[in-house]
Amino acid sequence: MENIKKIAFGTDHAALEIRENVKKYLKDLGYEVQDFGFYGTGSCDYPDYALKVAEVVVNKEAYKGILLCGTGIGMSIAANKVKGAIAAVCWDEDTARLAAQHNGANIICLGSRTATVSQVCHEIKIFLDTPFEQRHSQRIEKIKHIEKMQVSSC
Ligand code: RB5
Repeated sequence: MENIKKIAFGTDHAALEIRENVKKYLKDLGYEVQDFGFYGTGSCDYPDYALKVAEVVVNKEAYKGILLCGTGIGMSIAANKVKGAIAAVCWDEDTARLAAQHNGANIICLGSRTATVSQVCHEIKIFLDTPFEQRHSQRIEKIKHIEKMQVSSC
């Protein structure tokens, strides 16, 4: 049981129709899915779910994060505001693989309006299965350095 990897999962209303299919796919692959919403009616604000997922991922309470909205763009913009989050918008096999391999992404952001559910599932699997290549570490360290340089104006 201890070897089961936990995935932090969040969507907005745009991904309501595909979210349960994606969750089932992840569970069938053997992952534990921690679902942070949105599963209500009406609409919601994607930053609320991006924040929850990103916090869990950067705190190492989940192996990776998955965020779905209409395009993946809003989720990635919001999640990347959390220090330590590397949230990548992906749209095909190559971007899903390279986000993990080269960018060390810990969150994948996908669009329910820009891909089919089977494409979304396929890209998620590639992302989760692809290890980071250490030869890209220096670039990730430089991204972390940029984060450290940011001083709050509040
Ligand atoms: C919601 O209508 C839509 O703006 C959102 O899902 C997302 O695509 C934003 O990037």
